[in-house]
Amino acid sequence: MAQSVYSDIGGREAVEAVVTDFYDRVLADEQLVPFFEDMDMDELRAHQIQFISAVAGGPVEYTGDGMREAHAHLDIDEEDFDAVGAHLEEALRSNGVDEENVEAIMSEVVALKDPILDR
Ligand code: HEM
Repeated sequence: MAQSVYSDIGGREAVEAVVTDFYDRVLADEQLVPFFEDMDMDELRAHQIQFISAVAGGPVEYTGDGMREAHAHLDIDEEDFDAVGAHLEEALRSNGVDEENVEAIMSEVVALKDPILDR
């Protein structure tokens, strides 16, 4: 039995690889790219690494805003959320995260849908 999803998938290096791949996919998606124009992608990437690490049970403190506050001004709809979720799932799989851990991380992420959509 693994100590945590975080250590099981390969710790910091693995999460960094997933997050890099995730934003490559998001920024190649013309439905999503307008949301990220003018954003500080270095800061976003750093916060996303912390956030995914914390969600996966890693020993990492997340120092960004809460999910409702971070997204409330963006007018995201359900289709946008599903598209971002699909890119994250693909990034996890294509970086060698096994099915059980993909499901564990994605169930945490899906639970954030209402706050991210500010509803
Ligand atoms: C699927 C689950 C999602 C997770 C786990 C997530 C996670 C995060 C995190 C951790 C931040 C950083 C907040 C901060 O720096 O304080 C953030 C910011 C941001 N997210 Fe998300 N997000 C998700 C979905 C989305 C969706 C669906 C969109 C748009 C289609 C989106 C667009 C953004 C943008 C543009 C920012 C930067 C906001 C700013 O700096 O003003 N996110 N997100």
